[in-house]
Amino acid sequence: MTPAGSLLAAHDLHKAYGPTHALDGAGFSIHPGEIVAVMGPSGSGKSTLLHCLAGIVTPDSGSITYNGLEMATMNDSRRSALRRSEFGFVFQFGQLVPELTCVENVALPLRLNGTSRKEAERTALTWMERLEVDDLAAKRPGEVSGGQGQRVAVARSLVTGPRVLFADEPTGALDSLNGERVMELLTDAARSTNAAVVLVTHETRVAAYSDREVVVRDGRSRDMERVV
Ligand SMILES: Nc1ncnc2c1ncn2[C@@H]1O[C@H](COP(=O)(O)OP(=O)(O)O)[C@@H](O)[C@H]1O
Ligand SMILES: [Mg+2]
Repeated sequence: MTPAGSLLAAHDLHKAYGPTHALDGAGFSIHPGEIVAVMGPSGSGKSTLLHCLAGIVTPDSGSITYNGLEMATMNDSRRSALRRSEFGFVFQFGQLVPELTCVENVALPLRLNGTSRKEAERTALTWMERLEVDDLAAKRPGEVSGGQGQRVAVARSLVTGPRVLFADEPTGALDSLNGERVMELLTDAARSTNAAVVLVTHETRVAAYSDREVVVRDGRSRDMERVV
């Protein structure tokens, strides 16, 4: 069953790795433009849930629908086309290509979709300006700080205009000041483009940037009432 109006919804997901039940009946749904924090202790199944929602990992059972379409009915090339055109990704570390400059990194998803270099780098720069890293365009990832690198990664995740941004512990490797700045810029950019954000985090301070929180524990999820 898909909750009315949801862009991406999952129901009763199960995923086992050998004896480990990473997901044990988890559900999830998100509306267009909504920012949902997925919280829970380490090992509870947050990343597995995100990977299933993004079509990176196939659950053993359960249903996932994107725009009302059942993911399990899509073949691999359809699912990877969906990831390239509709989804954006930010992870905790190691996501920038070290041999490329920052602007080349941000332009990469557009280049992979067949956009010319000039056009891709022009669009990349507008995103780098929004994330306040346009002055780093010619630098390589090894020459920028952790917080700057994460802002470059956020620019790259948004450059194709995704409908859903998947962020797995995006501030996990940053100090709190840089983490807050990344979250402010990420959520402003997502709100301005009406991208939904699936934000995996174990930090309450990061979850505070969301509209709603879901808690995952032992592979099961539940909506959390926020006390304001
Ligand atoms: N590829 C994998 N192979 C084996 N076990 C895995 C794999 N991915 C996750 N797990 C296990 O599944 C459980 C949930 O992991 P994960 O979803 O990464 O949790 P979280 O992101 O909440 O820390 C953990 O016990 C983890 O060790
Ligand atoms: Mg994780």
